[in-house]
Amino acid sequence: MNMNICLMPGDGIGPEIVTQAVKVLEKVAKKFGHTVQTETALIGGAAIDAAGNPLPEATVAACKAADAVLLGAVGGPKWDTIDPAIRPEKGLLGIRKALGLFSNLRPAVLFPELAAASYLRPDIIGQGLDIMVVRELTGGAYFGEPRGETVVNGERAAFNTMIYSESEIERIVRVACEIARKRGKKLCSVDKANVLDVSRLWREVAIRTAAEYPDVALSHMYVDNAAMQLIRDPSQFDVIVTENLFGDILSDEASIITGSIGMLPSASMGSGGPALFEPIHGSAPDIAGQDIANPLATILSVSMMLRFAFGLEKEAAAIDAAVKTVLAKGYRTGDIYVGEGEKVGCSAMGALVLDAI
Ligand code: NAI
Ligand code: MG
Repeated sequence: MNMNICLMPGDGIGPEIVTQAVKVLEKVAKKFGHTVQTETALIGGAAIDAAGNPLPEATVAACKAADAVLLGAVGGPKWDTIDPAIRPEKGLLGIRKALGLFSNLRPAVLFPELAAASYLRPDIIGQGLDIMVVRELTGGAYFGEPRGETVVNGERAAFNTMIYSESEIERIVRVACEIARKRGKKLCSVDKANVLDVSRLWREVAIRTAAEYPDVALSHMYVDNAAMQLIRDPSQFDVIVTENLFGDILSDEASIITGSIGMLPSASMGSGGPALFEPIHGSAPDIAGQDIANPLATILSVSMMLRFAFGLEKEAAAIDAAVKTVLAKGYRTGDIYVGEGEKVGCSAMGALVLDAI
């Protein structure tokens, strides 16, 4: 297979971590008889500096022409004082929208090798932790109309609209069912159907859609309880599907219980077009340019790319296994170093993963 990948290294540690991840992609492609072609495009602060725009037309075109997109991170103090209309983050929201990326996949996996770095009690993480949060990304209160400010009884009031159509709910539940089918076959749909009309429709459509996947066990949970259960007993979850705002909150919560933000990858997918893969962390300006960032979140994003954009399961598993091997040998970047093993930098960590592949 030939893979055309658009790279958007972005700002801060972005270029450092993307460099390591691309080496890993090329190594695994070679090992399994595939070829990789890459094109690099500007986004975020780097694009503002070069073109006065966080998302140049050429970048959108390059992403649309690619099979998949790998992003580092955008933003940094250098651009904090510029016009909000052209902030680096606008580039990120813009490309998600331009590519129609309605489903955001965020695995929260605790590597047993990193148990000491987790925030949870050993008796809780001892059960293991491997959750996939599927968050709807282009609907709900973040995009719903009408929205804005008005005057009610003589005082200012503001409002947003949480709205979902049946087709929007169905397509995201379908994504979650397909994923659950390939994992633990358990899907928990999170809503607030005891209060919200939009959630009652969500639940109805979730039940109807999941009925087409008899091998997947569907359950439902109210979002307030789900937030609690994620901490109390995370091992009860396999795949979680939820709407945009609930998913924003729950995916952050689910991810941090695993330890470091430097470990966590993500995928954002649409219907058929190129998907986008990125670490969940930002540009980490405090450690940029020092070769000490953890490249594993970006390397694991490449694993997600192989699995979800290309259906290359063996190749993805080879990366996951290599990361586990390196961690088992005790190598740690600063963010996951808790006094044991050997501290290494960004490029050294990348080289160790390459060797393990
Ligand atoms: P951040 O995720 O960049 O950093 C938070 C903390 O985690 C920092 O102490 C950083 O050093 C550390 N960290 C993050 N990634 C790491 C890695 N791979 N290895 C080791 N340590 C790591 O979030 P922060 O500081 O709030 O934002 C910095 C900039 O990034 C801002 O301009 C923000 O807008 C932007 N940002 C961009 C995102 C994206 O491109 N997707 C997401 C979040 C923030
Ligand atoms: Mg968030």
